[in-house]
Amino acid sequence: MAVRYLLLVAMLAACNRASPPDTALRAPDGSPVPNGILGQSIRRGHAILAATHDSLPQHVGSALRCLSCHLGDGRQRDALPLTGVYARFPQYRSRSATVQRLEDRINECFQRSLSGTALAFDDPAMRDIVAYLAFVSLGVPVGGHVAGEGLQVGTALHGDTIAGAHVFQVRCARCHGVDGGGSTVAPPLWGPRSFSIGAGMARIRTATAFIRRNMPRDSAGTLTDAEALDVAAYVTSRPRPDFVGKEHDWPRGDAPPDVPYSTLAGKRDPAGSPNRP
Ligand code: HEC
Ligand code: HEC
Repeated sequence: MAVRYLLLVAMLAACNRASPPDTALRAPDGSPVPNGILGQSIRRGHAILAATHDSLPQHVGSALRCLSCHLGDGRQRDALPLTGVYARFPQYRSRSATVQRLEDRINECFQRSLSGTALAFDDPAMRDIVAYLAFVSLGVPVGGHVAGEGLQVGTALHGDTIAGAHVFQVRCARCHGVDGGGSTVAPPLWGPRSFSIGAGMARIRTATAFIRRNMPRDSAGTLTDAEALDVAAYVTSRPRPDFVGKEHDWPRGDAPPDVPYSTLAGKRDPAGSPNRP
């Protein structure tokens, strides 16, 4: 039974991964992908998000793809949607204390979340990714926001890692592997092929909120708040790739309290109001 179930999961995942560019891709305003050269660029951008390592092996150090975290083609609410993102950049970001363009933000996910390296702004792959993100932003006014954007993070900063290890084995290991190293149906949660310590997902509040809403993938929403916190505490306590230069993050000293490393400028008072990641 269990084996048949896993086979089914594997087949479904294989279908997802092997399927040609989705002809049903729609912008938030309902419009289809346009024909012609622009449409081809949008479809290539979507394909890169869906198969990032295979598309750009020299830029991806992990076994993750962009859509490992930005679920549902980057369109799913409460699952880090990219809908409207083209309308929200350039933007001041406290982690770098600079104004970042959309390309800078994309590269942060390449370097931190995929444990990889940045693309040149004029790389054709960057142009295609931006074309897809602009497409999923059609109809969102400049500076506008969409429902389910970001994550509703809580305030808890500590969970029970022993209880979390148990939740992991019972609820997560069948897809993410008993050692968290991933499997054919799900990406790694820790270890050398996972996201880096500098990724937003390495922070307990981000991980808790993402897991609470979206995992287990086939029964999302079934964990209790405590189970989500404990398993996030366990996952974020495991070893993962370093992010070189992380101590220079939040140079104005406004690092949120759940950043799992020291910064040269220090952390803000945990009682202070949280920043977005
Ligand atoms: C390990 C999980 C993970 C992976 C993999 C990942 N991201 Fe992200 N990404 C995040 C998190 C967490 C945020 C922060 C969301 C927020 O600010 O609310 C984010 C934010 C973003 C944003 C800004 C969103 C906004 O609303 O401001 C963009 C753009 C983005 N990612 C693009 C990408 C691209 C492109 C890739 C693949 C190259 C990628 N991400 C891979 C976790 C991930
Ligand atoms: C039914 C299989 C399945 C189960 C069970 C499951 N996941 Fe996932 N998980 C996935 C898949 C698949 C993805 C990536 C989504 C994609 O590629 O479409 C994912 C993505 C993730 C991610 C973001 C990407 C990464 O690799 O870091 C986290 C974090 C995560 N899962 C945590 C958990 C936790 C914690 C549990 C247990 C409470 C869990 N998952 C249970 C299938 C599963």
